Amino acid sequence: MEHVTEGAWETLPVPLHPRVLAALRELGFPYMTPVQSATIPLFMKNKDVAAEAVTGSGKTLAFVIPILQILLKREEKLKKMQVGAIIITPTRELAIQINEVLLHFSKHFPQFSQILLIGGRNPGEDVERFKEQGGNIIVATPGRLEDMFRRKAEGLDLANCVKSLDVLVLDEADRLLDMGFEASINTILEFLPKQRRTGLFSATQTQEVENLVRAGLRNPVRISVKEKGVAATSTQKTPSRLENYYMVCKADEKFNQLVHFLQNHKQEKHLVFFSTCACVEYYGKALEALIKNAKIMCIHGKMKYKRNKIFMEFRNLQSGILVCTDVMARGIDIPEVNWVLQYDPPSNASAFVHRCGRTARIGHTGSALVFLLPMEESYVNFLSINQKCPLQEMKPQKNPADLLPQLKSMALADRAVFEKGMKAFVSCVQAYAKHECNLIFRLKDLDFASLARGFALLRMPKMPELRGKQFPHFVPVDIDTDTIAFKDKNREKQRQKFLEQQRKEKKENEGRKKFIKNKAWSKQKAKKEKKKKMNEKRKREEVYAFFWLRPCKIESLSKYKLYSRETLKQKSHLDSKLLPLFTLWCLVSSNYNFCGQPAYII
Ligand SMILES: Nc1ncnc2c1ncn2[C@@H]1O[C@H](COP(=O)(O)OP(=O)(O)OP(=O)(O)O)[C@@H](O)[C@H]1O
Ligand SMILES: [Mg+2]
Repeated sequence: MEHVTEGAWETLPVPLHPRVLAALRELGFPYMTPVQSATIPLFMKNKDVAAEAVTGSGKTLAFVIPILQILLKREEKLKKMQVGAIIITPTRELAIQINEVLLHFSKHFPQFSQILLIGGRNPGEDVERFKEQGGNIIVATPGRLEDMFRRKAEGLDLANCVKSLDVLVLDEADRLLDMGFEASINTILEFLPKQRRTGLFSATQTQEVENLVRAGLRNPVRISVKEKGVAATSTQKTPSRLENYYMVCKADEKFNQLVHFLQNHKQEKHLVFFSTCACVEYYGKALEALIKNAKIMCIHGKMKYKRNKIFMEFRNLQSGILVCTDVMARGIDIPEVNWVLQYDPPSNASAFVHRCGRTARIGHTGSALVFLLPMEESYVNFLSINQKCPLQEMKPQKNPADLLPQLKSMALADRAVFEKGMKAFVSCVQAYAKHECNLIFRLKDLDFASLARGFALLRMPKMPELRGKQFPHFVPVDIDTDTIAFKDKNREKQRQKFLEQQRKEKKENEGRKKFIKNKAWSKQKAKKEKKKKMNEKRKREEVYAFFWLRPCKIESLSKYKLYSRETLKQKSHLDSKLLPLFTLWCLVSSNYNFCGQPAYII
């Protein structure tokens, strides 16, 4: 394989343990990949690393091997409850996958215990498992790991267990260090000793120095491995063997095009990305009903317990369709995926790269296709400039079968489908408003009528984004949608009971309408006053924050506001003479992470 060309493992300047080499032989990997040969020696020589390499290029082993080597080198043996290494990943599925890779190596080293700490399981059981088996190496998702630090009362003093931690790895580091995980990661980092090795890994590495500092990297070595066969000056972030397509079609044509495509590629394995969990629920069910003789599965972040099982099952399928959200976008290694289809473009350009990277891994070929609305076509240019990711056009199929009437009949026959469709539409519009690239994805230019037709809606939902708008090109069904019943008899019975109760309450309240209105009005007024006061307070605090950190870049100010607001809350009694002193104290105190930015006193 041309992607595994960096020489045999034995040629590394730092020798690997014979049992590590044996595990590699078992895997049938005689040679290293470029990111492995570049990263392993540095990480093993106690450098902090921030490694960026294209999707599917073998970053997992680039940290798994050094972790074991570093732990083997420890002078003092790890005790059962001592944690030597922690690997954090953004999703459960990725944690499961990394845990399996690590297990393949750690089974050769029975002296190390290994534990997986992820959501979707009983935290109490995790505590018991930890106490029973120990956890020298932890593979975890941020939420569950943070939770484990609070379980002292149940007999697990994790803060104490991590005191002699050697290595921390953040896989998909840019995702872990962004706003979504900020609180959990910050809490976890506070518990970890500063004297440790830290490794950040991703196909789209964080470029912000303050993020590296926040993660605890000291003089990190930045490793950036470019794709072979791509010009040296290029920063293309997608694999060179990936065939990347886009298709332009209207919102009400997308679903038919998707079904047509999937029906013509039934023997292959596909991931189909949607922007929200509700869209996965709705379109997943629709595809299940409309595409015969194909295994269709759904996965999204709001699924609590089924997720792990579905993921495992899909991995073992020969062919099939996994309808998913971005929980599947990063790190997931399913080598046989032939097509990555993006029904909705992702909310940011890096997610595009990660989604596409679920195919064409480690030198294999693969293809990706993103559906774009006519008004979104400039996204192609944006991707080619922003991510050096060229896309080819795929023409839509002329006159594919129109399946939207069938979807409408499904909604008319079962309230569950009708409600799922409405929810999906609302969530899709809301997600659209949050596109990072909002110059291209402009909510105000979106053709809502066409979009609603594409969701096969029976009527337009009521939502703030549609208020005051007319939709002459959308024809609602000619029935009262309240009369649509659930197919599930119990659910329908409950709904009827609820409706009856509502009717009764309405009747009873009719006489008291005025009184209730007044009461609500006064309550509303008090609420408004409170809100106004809070806003004023917030503004005052932000002004202070700005004074304190004036030289910071404006765009990074929002982060500092958080720290400063917290501090201000505690110190609001300070008078203005003390402020300069306090600011100085903030600067020297490690509790206040100003990320190396200078701050000066007014
Ligand atoms: N030296 C090697 N030789 C052959 N195959 C390898 C080698 N190292 C890793 N692989 C295989 O390459 C595939 C991709 O590896 P991995 O998941 O680590 O990629 P990644 O760079 O982390 O991708 P992503 O950015 O999507 O997370 C896996 O199936 C892995 O088993
Ligand atoms: Mg990975």
